[in-house]
Amino acid sequence: GKYRVISTKSMPGTRWINLLIQNDCRLEICTEKKTILSVEDIIALIGDKCDGVIGQLTEDWGEELFSALSRAGGKAFSNMAVGYNNVNVDAANKYGVAVGNTPGVLTETTAELAASLSLAAARRIVEADEFMRAGLYDGWLPHLFVGNLLKGQTVGVIGAGRIGSAYARMMVEGFKMNLIYFDLYQSTRLEKFVTGMFLPTYGAFLKANGETPVTWKRASSMDEVLQEADIISLHPVLDKTTYHLVNKERLAKMKKEAILINCSRGPVIDEAALVEHLKENPLFRVGLDVFEDEPYMKPGLAELKNAIVVPHIASASKWTREGMATLAALNVLGKIKGYPVWFDPNRVEPFLNENAQPPA
Ligand code: GLV
Ligand code: GLV
Repeated sequence: GKYRVISTKSMPGTRWINLLIQNDCRLEICTEKKTILSVEDIIALIGDKCDGVIGQLTEDWGEELFSALSRAGGKAFSNMAVGYNNVNVDAANKYGVAVGNTPGVLTETTAELAASLSLAAARRIVEADEFMRAGLYDGWLPHLFVGNLLKGQTVGVIGAGRIGSAYARMMVEGFKMNLIYFDLYQSTRLEKFVTGMFLPTYGAFLKANGETPVTWKRASSMDEVLQEADIISLHPVLDKTTYHLVNKERLAKMKKEAILINCSRGPVIDEAALVEHLKENPLFRVGLDVFEDEPYMKPGLAELKNAIVVPHIASASKWTREGMATLAALNVLGKIKGYPVWFDPNRVEPFLNENAQPPA
């Protein structure tokens, strides 16, 4: 191959590998055993000549790496992730490196994990499983692991992009929840589905069967969602405007028995404040896929029965991970071969800046 392409990790499937090697690339997949590569590790991998890199969200792609890649003749970098808070896009621009991400292929898989955590938290699945395995079950009881009925409750979605909208659809259609969402922009993606495709027919169906139709609205503030929703799922991008979006004050606004789900990025929640809130409010529950300081959890979180914690697996279905790998390879190959790179920044405007204009 003419072009040297590096993948900092082995990735699922073979399609991405074939795409690269059948298109003039010599692919090197890093075999380093440690999970998180340092900047120095990656600089060593890049070496003197490297045309493109497929990297991971655990890596810090800033000045140092983009200048090293540029010195090695590199023109392309793709994150194998939709989120790109680990990538300094300005630095990449400065060194003439195109940046790609992998939106779209993980939308449904990620929303399904958020839905799974919602159900698991509402029905206390993990606690109940631990109870069984500990040999504590000594007979059915009316009080045993009583949780929440989702039907008729309100689901709150904060950040109504692809993933938030897919999650909203699942919870409304699947469990007949009422919906309230907050986003800086009116989400035509979400509203087209809810009003255009789904609610008129579904609402008529529910009415015809003597059931209460589900309701939905766009909230005028995030606090409105926090106050009204029984389950709140966070789907914003992480940037400086969404850092600690959910803090002590906002936690205090939520219902005492609310459920909070986070499959976006850990720093969107002030995790230390969350631990305190969970301790003080045993009926408040969370389902977390992401953490403020991965791979660590804030002290105390692991001991709490009202928290479900999983290791950043929201996009972890076989189909999606193979799709992400393929998109990442296409991004790098596209730039090298002169095709357009699929970088969809989704929404880089400040999330909470009321004066920001929607992307064109
Ligand atoms: C995973 O967290 C992603 O951003 O794709
Ligand atoms: C965010 O990137 C989304 O796909 O919703």
